Amino acid sequence: MVENIVILTGAGISAESGLGTFRDAGGLWEQYPLEQVATPEGFARNPALVHDFYNARRKNCAEAEPNPAHFALADLERNFKGSVLIVTQNVDDLHERAGSQNILHMHGEMGKAKCHICDYHWHSPPELFAKTPCPSCTKPATRPDIVWFGEMPYHMVKIELYLQDADLFVSIGTSGNVYPAAGFVQQARLAGAQTLELNLEPSQGASNFHAARNGPASEVVPQWVGEIIRAGL
Ligand code: APR
Repeated sequence: MVENIVILTGAGISAESGLGTFRDAGGLWEQYPLEQVATPEGFARNPALVHDFYNARRKNCAEAEPNPAHFALADLERNFKGSVLIVTQNVDDLHERAGSQNILHMHGEMGKAKCHICDYHWHSPPELFAKTPCPSCTKPATRPDIVWFGEMPYHMVKIELYLQDADLFVSIGTSGNVYPAAGFVQQARLAGAQTLELNLEPSQGASNFHAARNGPASEVVPQWVGEIIRAGL
């Protein structure tokens, strides 16, 4: 019997909402060197460049709309008798806007800012600049509240507890390149969960899953959610 579902989402679930993925052909890391825009060292070297990059992405996120995959996961949370947790690597807010409530943003959120001196967090205005003052300590030390390469993802203790208790672990739209998220499937499996990958194509970690369905998230996710709800699991 399935009581606890943990769902890991990645850029692929938001691709059909018009937000670019990172590692597909023409993806974000082909267009922008990640060392420059997604590391603390890159930010220290050129904060204006990093703010420009995230200001543009924040605008894209604000203009994007959730797609049928996001709405299906919100339906699942509303209709499933047990617990549904979404752990997302995405920094957009499309899960929230589709109606999901139990979400952990392990790589931060585009809609938030933080101070790199006093660590205060707040809701970001549409644009941030190198001189934007921290509302708490007033220093011009504002950065996007995004977990960059080399930094510790958020909510790890809570995520590990949920993985321990998971009966079903589902990975959606992620290439399985970035740890610790890429290792969640093995952790859940060791703890006894069934594991399922829903992705456009087999990911790098596809062989770690018990089962897979390949296709666009807007098709395979609503189909899978419909089956779970109809089965009355
Ligand atoms: N439906 C389902 N899957 C899709 C779709 C789609 N329409 N389009 C693309 N995909 C799949 C790709 O096949 C790929 O396996 O989504 C995956 C996207 O992989 P990445 O671009 O690597 O994105 P992600 O796995 O989320 O990246 C993880 O890396 O750079 C960091 O912090 C960033 O959170 C990000 C992390």
